[in-house]
Amino acid sequence: LSPLITLNDGHGIPQLGLGTWPLDDEQVTAAVVHALEAGYRHIDTAVKYGNEEGVGNGIRASGVNRSKIFVTTKLDGEFQGQDRAVAGLEGSLTRLGLDYVDLLLIHWPLPGRDDFVSTWKTFERLQAQGKVRSIGVSNFKPAHLERLLAETDVVPAVNQIQLSPAITREAEREFNAGHGIVTESYSPLGGSGASLLTAPLLAQLGEKYDKTPAQLVLRWHIEKGLVVIPKSGNPERMRENLDIFDFSLDRQDLAELAILDEGPGAGNDSDATGH
Ligand code: A2P
Repeated sequence: LSPLITLNDGHGIPQLGLGTWPLDDEQVTAAVVHALEAGYRHIDTAVKYGNEEGVGNGIRASGVNRSKIFVTTKLDGEFQGQDRAVAGLEGSLTRLGLDYVDLLLIHWPLPGRDDFVSTWKTFERLQAQGKVRSIGVSNFKPAHLERLLAETDVVPAVNQIQLSPAITREAEREFNAGHGIVTESYSPLGGSGASLLTAPLLAQLGEKYDKTPAQLVLRWHIEKGLVVIPKSGNPERMRENLDIFDFSLDRQDLAELAILDEGPGAGNDSDATGH
């Protein structure tokens, strides 16, 4: 089972969870049931993914007690600004069939709209009301976070960003850590269709550790203290991805994995991504 990381509000988040984009309602119900059976206790969804109903159905079908599961969803752009997040969260809770979520994120800063500060103030109220335990952001750059830190009261518990050994975001990670914000990695395996897992170095190290390239990459995230949400719809790969807590990468191998870094220009720039 995945260890917990303690967030700045005192709540624990399982360090490894299941990513669910782009599974549809039907696929995600099966995936969530398989994941919870395999021992996952953290599921990541979003309004934008269009699969919250399926996630809720999977949770109920699994028979696992809701209180044992960490559920994240993300508020879509249409619910940013003024008090729109109230209706946004209400819709998510209805679709999920839950009376609270563990973590609610602002999905994108949407800088052109300049709504994220007022959205965050609504998040603070929703947290005080108990409809959401922890609040955070996604795809935020340090400049966006600087504004939140200056203009609002609650420091985000997490910032979920695209991050992998190919897209390492070191400056952003450092900024988050310096403010007590946990960094969460989406597309941690490089995303679908990426070549990261075929790197020869991973095959080589795989022999040494008797682990697959995906397991080595996920372990890289764990060693860096990141929360990581690999997506898989395949029960065997889900189990494989959870089976990373019985080994660790030694210093030298961790350092060697830096050759996989594609540099600061790599990765997509928040707003355009499906995530
Ligand atoms: P699948 O759902 O068929 O398992 P990311 O989490 O970085 O977005 O990556 C998701 C992609 O990686 C999906 O295409 C997923 O396919 C694939 N994937 C997930 N786990 C593994 C694994 N252990 N080995 C190889 N590919 C994987």
